[in-house]
Amino acid sequence: MSDNFVLTDHNLGLDLMRATEAAALSAGRWAGRGDKESGDGAAVAALRRILNEVRMDGTIVIGEGEKDEAPMLANGERVGTGEGPRVDIAVDPVDGTRLLAWGARDSIAVLAAADGGTMYDPYMCFYMDKLVVGADAADVIDLDAPIAENIRQVARAKGKDVAEIIVAVQNRERHADLAREVREAGARTRIFTDGDVACAVQAASPDMAIDILVGRGGSPEGVVTAVAMKCLGGRILARLHPTTDEQRERTIAAGFDPARVLDTNDLVSGDNCVFVATGITDGDLLPGVRYLPGGGARTDSVVMRSISGTRRYVQAFHQLEKVADYARRTGEG
Ligand code: FBP
Repeated sequence: MSDNFVLTDHNLGLDLMRATEAAALSAGRWAGRGDKESGDGAAVAALRRILNEVRMDGTIVIGEGEKDEAPMLANGERVGTGEGPRVDIAVDPVDGTRLLAWGARDSIAVLAAADGGTMYDPYMCFYMDKLVVGADAADVIDLDAPIAENIRQVARAKGKDVAEIIVAVQNRERHADLAREVREAGARTRIFTDGDVACAVQAASPDMAIDILVGRGGSPEGVVTAVAMKCLGGRILARLHPTTDEQRERTIAAGFDPARVLDTNDLVSGDNCVFVATGITDGDLLPGVRYLPGGGARTDSVVMRSISGTRRYVQAFHQLEKVADYARRTGEG
C-alpha cells in the first residue's frame, strides 16, 4: 500500500469527541426544562468522566463557568490517564446554558486542546472584545478600526458586496450601537442570543452564512475560538475587557495589559491543536441530540485539527445502555 494511506499520527480529537458526545447526551435531557445549572452540571460530570479515560496527560486551563458561578471543571485540574501527550484543555461543557434551559436552538458542548503550556489563561478577566473572520479575510481586519471599515475590507477580501456581508452580533444592550453601525455600513446583522463559539466557527467556515463575528463575550470562549481559528485558518483579534475595578486590578497584577490587542497566536501559541463540538439542541452549526424510540440516541459532532486542517462531521448512534449509563452517573432525571 502507498505510504499516503498509512496513518502516521493519532488524532486526539476523535477521542475527545467522545467526551463532548457524552456531555451533549447528558445535557440534552435537560433541554427546555428551565434549569440552566442542572443541564450544565450534567454536562460537566459526563465530560469529566470521559476525559479521564482518554490517554493523555491533560490540564484544564479553562474550566469555564466562573463568570456565572456555574458548575465547572477546575482550572489546573488534571485530566486523562496521565500517559501520552501533555495537553492544555479548555472546556465549555454547554455553550448556551440559557438556550439549553429554554429548549432554544444552538447550544453546543465544546472542548479545545493544544500542546501543554501553549494556551492563554484569562482567569482574571471574564470578558473580551472579539473580532473573528475566516482565512480569506484574516489579513485585513483591525480591532481598532470602526466596524464599517472592517466590513468594507472583509467584503473586498471575499469578493462580495457589502450588502452580502453577514455580521453576527450578540443580543446585548452593550452591542446596540455596534448593531446599528453594521446596518448603517450597508451590511446585515445576524443577532444571536447566546453561544458566540458556534457563531465564530461559522464565521470562519467558508461554507457557512456568517462572515464576521464582532462584540464582547466571554474570555474562555475567546480562547476556545482561537483554537478553532488555528484549525480553520481563520483569525480572532481580542482585547481583555475588565468590567470591574477589581478585575482590572487583577488583570494588571497578573502581568496582563488590558489595552493590548491579542491575536490568535497570543491566545493559543501551539500549532498542534484540536477543536471538538457536539450539538445539544438543534442549531446552525450542528444538529442537536436526538433521543430515539427504544432508548438510544444520535449525536452530531465536528472534529477539527490544526496540523491536517481536517474538519470532520461525525454522526454517531449510541446504544440505550450507554445513554442510560450517562444519565445514571450524572444524576439526571
Ligand atoms: P454560557 O453558556 O456559559 O451561559 O455562555 C453563553 C454566552 O452567550 C457565550 O457564548 C458568550 O461568550 C457569553 O455568554 C456572553 O456573556 P454574557 O451572557 O454575560 O453577555
